[in-house]
Amino acid sequence: MNKNLKLGPIVGKINEVDIYANQLMRKGSSWAGGGNTPSDGNDTNINNDPIRKLTNTAKSIVIYWSRSGSTELLASKIINKTNSDIFEITVKDPYPANYVKTRDRANFERESNTPPELDLILPDLSQYDTVFLGFQTWAMTLSQPMKAFLLDYGDRLSDKRIAPFETQGGYGSGDSIDLMKEILNQNNTFTSPLIVDGNRVDDANSKVERWVEEVEESKI
Ligand SMILES: Cc1cc2nc3c(=O)[nH]c(=O)nc-3n(C[C@H](O)[C@H](O)[C@H](O)COP(=O)(O)O)c2cc1C
Repeated sequence: MNKNLKLGPIVGKINEVDIYANQLMRKGSSWAGGGNTPSDGNDTNINNDPIRKLTNTAKSIVIYWSRSGSTELLASKIINKTNSDIFEITVKDPYPANYVKTRDRANFERESNTPPELDLILPDLSQYDTVFLGFQTWAMTLSQPMKAFLLDYGDRLSDKRIAPFETQGGYGSGDSIDLMKEILNQNNTFTSPLIVDGNRVDDANSKVERWVEEVEESKI
């Protein structure tokens, strides 16, 4: 790891790896909601090796992308409750730590319809009945890396139960879930989404617990 990176406090662990999520320090007026959500922090794709836990036995897998760590923290909470396997989505060219630079790049990718190139080899998913899909709202729609993942690998999710979870800056998820359904369109069943403010993931334990129970019950 590059020792010069400004990481902030450790807020949790995922597969034994430290999680940093600077947004958690933004409470009250320093969290202006969506349009003014700096979410500065190093792209989790820079901080560490991709997070992977793949077993032969798990029936569910958490597949997620996170830039500034909040969605990664939410993923860790779901994993703790479900014992799922883990697969972090990785982009070839990580996003800048600076919010404005990331926003400009993301806007360009969205407007030019050129989502980022991913850097991953997806394992065989046939053992899983449920795929927890973690992402964040960017410009009131799916973040560009999640959009890229769905476009590139969506056919591998056919016939699965999809349990979407997301963090956002306070404006809601826009058309994220509709777009996810539109891109997948492969006989999937969808649970209701879990949506948590990016600065409140540390307070979300009981919300996560209730949602995971709901997802488990939807299997029956
Ligand atoms: C480029 C960019 C665009 C964003 N657009 C929105 C938005 O439209 N609405 C919103 O509520 N939050 C928005 N946010 C805030 C993120 O959804 C929020 O910070 C999220 O928790 C980040 O997740 P992460 O820490 O896992 O990367 C945006 C953040 C970025 C970086």
